[in-house]
Amino acid sequence: MKKNILTGDRPTGQLHIGHYCGALKNRVALQDEYNTYVMIADVQALTDNFNDPEKVRKNVFEVAKDNLAVGIDPQKTTIFIQSMVPEIAELTIFFSNLVTINRLKRNPTVKDEIKQKHALFKDDVTFGFLGYPVSQAADITAFQADLVPVGEDQLPMIEQTREIVRKFNSIYGETLKEPRAKVGDVPRVLGMDGRKMSKSLDNSITFTDSDEEIRNKIKGALTNEVGAKNLLSLLEQFSDEQKMVEKFNQEFKEGTIKYSELKPFLAQAIIEKLKPIQEKRAYYDQNPKIVEEILIEGTKKARMIAKETLAKVKEKMFINYF
Ligand code: TRP
Repeated sequence: MKKNILTGDRPTGQLHIGHYCGALKNRVALQDEYNTYVMIADVQALTDNFNDPEKVRKNVFEVAKDNLAVGIDPQKTTIFIQSMVPEIAELTIFFSNLVTINRLKRNPTVKDEIKQKHALFKDDVTFGFLGYPVSQAADITAFQADLVPVGEDQLPMIEQTREIVRKFNSIYGETLKEPRAKVGDVPRVLGMDGRKMSKSLDNSITFTDSDEEIRNKIKGALTNEVGAKNLLSLLEQFSDEQKMVEKFNQEFKEGTIKYSELKPFLAQAIIEKLKPIQEKRAYYDQNPKIVEEILIEGTKKARMIAKETLAKVKEKMFINYF
């Protein structure tokens, strides 16, 4: 029997080459070996975008197309929309008894995010946002995931999921699988301004950027210490010309690197690697019905699996009345 993977993306913007290096490439490689579920986390996206539901809705389809474009194969992988699997929300309610407020407040990722979102939450935070790790535990366990491929920032979520699973199993009896995180081994790609790469910071390269946009973005990238290392790291990941990668790295060490040479070379490498992805992306853009069909099928299948888990959970909790 194949093991299960569950992973998710928040539909708050198009995915970009940061996601590609950090998560998507890995996800595509694993889909043959694992029974893979890719969840479009619209419910989670709403926890800090509840005041912009149109944005979330639009990006559900963008993120679906991005996944398909990089090679997620709907024959192998189940792609689905979180809110269309209400069993996850039910599990969240049951799990919420197994987590304390103080434990949630100590989650380092949530803690950071609350600080970053001061404009939204002021000096407080919503129940929904503070509790999103509980909902993420439900996402993962609904599919009895063995493995959760994520970025490093998500490790605290997986740790909390494991705690919830252990607590559930110890109270109600062995029911849920304790998942493991799988973090990619590539360094985190930064945006062209040296900050975290993010569509909303306008410093990313996406799968719908034209060649010219890519050239201009790389041209405008910072070349201070952090920026230069980021360009070299991108080169490492996008160029197949090992000799040139070594040459630029050597020149960087010696302080003789010419960014007027590195930048166009890197831009070209990215353009070439993205070409097949962009072509596929354009195909799905022109065929929205096909994307919708994939999501309908995926969601149907996902719901069947989540229902099975929920039935087991309810039985163990003695709430399977008739
Ligand atoms: N929190 C993840 C992120 O911000 C998205 C996500 C939601 C997720 N549910 C998940 C990731 C379950 C892995 C497993 O990127």
